[in-house]
Amino acid sequence: MIDKITIAIDGFSSTGKSTIAKALAKQLGYIYVDTGAMYRAVTLFAMNYGLVSSHNFDWKALENRLSSITLTFKFNPDLGFAEMFLNGDNVEKEIRTLEVSQLVSKVSAISSVRRKLVLVQQEMGKYKGIVMDGRDIGTVVFPDAEIKLFMTASADTRAQRRYKELIAKGDVVSYEEILQNVVERDHLDSTRKDSPLIKADDAIEIDNSDLGLKEQFDKIYALIKKK
Ligand code: DC
Repeated sequence: MIDKITIAIDGFSSTGKSTIAKALAKQLGYIYVDTGAMYRAVTLFAMNYGLVSSHNFDWKALENRLSSITLTFKFNPDLGFAEMFLNGDNVEKEIRTLEVSQLVSKVSAISSVRRKLVLVQQEMGKYKGIVMDGRDIGTVVFPDAEIKLFMTASADTRAQRRYKELIAKGDVVSYEEILQNVVERDHLDSTRKDSPLIKADDAIEIDNSDLGLKEQFDKIYALIKKK
């Protein structure tokens, strides 16, 4: 039997990390974990309790309530991936709005939030056979991952992708506000004190501005086969 490995995929927002991670997990029969969904769910919780908005952030109150947050993933066979549940409610749709995207970087900069989520993520990956995507997977969550990828693409390419996704879902958004959100999140996620988004020394960088999904998949799958 081939030993299972850990695949860590980090990178900027909307670089197609989850698309490639899902495809790899399916091909390998591995579990896929979207850690961004977990930070988004904590953000939604904070929004629902009025703890965070564009003009305020009561991070101490959020810290005090962290123990009342339970995050679980449940596999949806129709979709082919696991959906995010916050305290028993399916929040998969709610966590993908632009409003959540605009607040999530504030919430994910809080160390106590990160500590809680990193522990859950490490528990999920303790038997390997996992593809996990996020910002600190190869640096903090699984520094010993056998395969580490760092995905990049131009801000314009990423904003176009995100804009098309949201419009397809019926959200009313402008391209300009999406681009602004992408650029702002890049900045906040890469400059925060705790676990900033940086490329691990041993990560392979993939710029997919001009790469299709099949080309990316073949390139990465060849790397995995070598391992
Ligand atoms: O992958 P995403 O765009 O859904 O992630 C949303 C935000 O969550 C991202 O802007 C930063 C934060 N995040 C993080 O800080 N660490 C992770 N491992 C994953 C996401």
